[in-house]
Amino acid sequence: MTIDERDIEDYSEAEARAEIDRLHAALSRADRAYFEQDAPEITDAEYDAMKRRYQTLEIAFPELKRPDSLSGKVAGAPVEGFSKVRHAVPMLSLAKAYTDEDVVDFIERARRFFERDKDLKLAFTAEPKIDGLSASLRYENGVFVQGATRGDGAVGEDITANLRTITDIPHKLAGAGWPATIEIRGEVYMTMAEFEALKARSAAVGGQEYVNPRNTAAGSLRQKDPSITASRNLKFFAYAWGYTSADPAPTQFEAVHRFGDWGFKISPYMVRATSVDELIAQYRKIEELRSSLGYDIDGVVYKLDDLELQRRWGFSSGEPRWAVAHKFPAEQATTTVRAIDIQVGRTGTLAPVARLAPVGVGGVVVENVTLHNEDYIAGIDSNGLPIRGDEPIDIRVGDTVVIQRAGDVIPQIVRVVLEKRPADAVPYVFPHTCPVCGSPATRELNEKTGKEDSRRRCTGELICPAQAVEQLKHFASRGAMDIEGLGTENVELLFNSGLVRTAADIFTLKHRRAEVQAAFAARREEQSRQRDAAAGKVRTATRSVAERSFEGLDKLFAAIDGRREPELDRFIFALGIRHIGETTAAVLAKTFSTIAALRDKGLEAAAAGGNLHEVFPSVNGIGDTVWEALRDFFGNERNVVALDSLLAQVTPKEYVVTVSATSEVAGKTVVFTGTLEKLTRGEAKAMAERLGAKVAGSVSKNTDIVVAGPGAGSKLKQAQELGIMVLDEDQWLEMAAK
Ligand code: IVH
Repeated sequence: MTIDERDIEDYSEAEARAEIDRLHAALSRADRAYFEQDAPEITDAEYDAMKRRYQTLEIAFPELKRPDSLSGKVAGAPVEGFSKVRHAVPMLSLAKAYTDEDVVDFIERARRFFERDKDLKLAFTAEPKIDGLSASLRYENGVFVQGATRGDGAVGEDITANLRTITDIPHKLAGAGWPATIEIRGEVYMTMAEFEALKARSAAVGGQEYVNPRNTAAGSLRQKDPSITASRNLKFFAYAWGYTSADPAPTQFEAVHRFGDWGFKISPYMVRATSVDELIAQYRKIEELRSSLGYDIDGVVYKLDDLELQRRWGFSSGEPRWAVAHKFPAEQATTTVRAIDIQVGRTGTLAPVARLAPVGVGGVVVENVTLHNEDYIAGIDSNGLPIRGDEPIDIRVGDTVVIQRAGDVIPQIVRVVLEKRPADAVPYVFPHTCPVCGSPATRELNEKTGKEDSRRRCTGELICPAQAVEQLKHFASRGAMDIEGLGTENVELLFNSGLVRTAADIFTLKHRRAEVQAAFAARREEQSRQRDAAAGKVRTATRSVAERSFEGLDKLFAAIDGRREPELDRFIFALGIRHIGETTAAVLAKTFSTIAALRDKGLEAAAAGGNLHEVFPSVNGIGDTVWEALRDFFGNERNVVALDSLLAQVTPKEYVVTVSATSEVAGKTVVFTGTLEKLTRGEAKAMAERLGAKVAGSVSKNTDIVVAGPGAGSKLKQAQELGIMVLDEDQWLEMAAK
């Protein structure tokens, strides 16, 4: 975004207001990118310049100062950043070993250093090197008082509130015998399952892209709102310590086990050994386990076991001499690119995929690999800098490529073997029209940075069959309208046979019974033909399958009719508006109570164009991105028409916040933990809030009810210790139904 540098005196009041609003939006967006997404989009200098201009305008036009002005906050400095914490004992990094010989050298160095102590039998620990980010947790008299990031090793950030949401981190140490003060150190990480789930949730709302579990864990820890951190279900392994008023034990091995006794998770793969062979055997064992652990590790750490000897051996250039990280080689394989396909997502993103000649990497067969976007294919990042080597090297059909399973999950292309590029290979031309509907596919301009979005989007919206069918799948899906029997396959069938083009069509299906039946029958016919062909059978007679599908159809129609009065939050989520996920939909439902009210405001915002804040209320948890998305949704005539025809079919319930004395849970504080089987977390939360309960992320003495599903861990334990009522999911549903 450019700053209008005109003299302040030249501004009319209207111009000043518009400029203040523009800067306000840009600054808020920059704050969000910096603090919430951990992905700054502009430089500090640009930020400062915008903030200065904003403040100058406010001083010149005091009557235009907005109630939500950003100027109370210091320019350029973290707006609501974290305070700094100087580590009492620095958080060091580790020396690295890449080969078995490097490990032999390490052990040799130890032997030489302690040469004079003839009788010493040196022992070492070996344990996985977790690929997350380290944190230091200060306990005073057994109580967690402060937690910090590593930062630059000397000074980190105070992220206590966020760390408190991690269930692997005890708020009070269990057992006894802990030093009066101790800083427990270890790794915060995200499991692959959690990462995949988050990615899926984000993709469902066209939200941000997450690169890998490590970066995502880092971003999750730097949230301003701890409830967001809590929703990411981060984990923690304790493996070291910083300042301590007394040694936790005489050896590394025992110390870490004591951490286990005090309530921490510790790696089950830590062993103690006295020879290089044993250490390397443990390295191989952990390397084999790597792909089945469910979280990323990138090597094995060896540490001299005896703490007294650790102290004697000491440190050099910011690393302990007594420890070394033996890194895993990245798993790589060579294959060829057979084709580049474009997939169109629900929100219209054109996602290029390389189809590869199948190749095994670290135990899995890789056939497809995402190419992210057109810049990536061309070999440049969002700043135009080369990403594969010193020069931009593009990826072409026919190329031989080296692929790697980064962090053992997501395969990616790390190198193009140029020597093997076929003479006739041509640069890939990224389509500027949607391959499915032919509409122009454009790159949105980021107003603030003036940069184009790296993703190209189909502008066809609902006229694009790819987007339309994905939207319909989303509409009917479990978290949205939850229409039993309308899964991926049936939605595709109904869409392709022209019976359902918009969500409203779903609700008129029963009036076209004969056609629906014919479509289902044709599919069955086709399926059994294929089965027979595969089995080498010759078909003699065509059985009438049509009759058999009656029952299924009745069920489907009944399921559809059963959803004609959906809960408002589900309905809003089902609309598939960009950036509106389950949680935001629930907040919107609570804010507007009826779909009519939301529709009115949406249309008003679309008509007003400019200042969103004049139209929309200020709501905790909802930022400009969502308001902009709503404005844009209602600004598109086609969406309004589609919504109105849908509303001719369905009547979303009014969202009533019944803080009724009738519900037993009204006014109570509820914590959900473990896996819920009948409700999604979003549903459970919305349900509790509808009944007037408050939902908290962690258990404290103020908690009234803990609803614990399978896999519940420390929260359940805490609840039991504090004597808090614990219910399973069924008991909760029963109580909520009263
Ligand atoms: S020990 C003084 N043990 O690796 C040594 N570090 O390169 C303190 N890490 O910043 C670290 N797993 O984030 C240690 N089992 C483990 C580890 C581990 C992961 C990370 C940690 C540290 C980095 C050092």
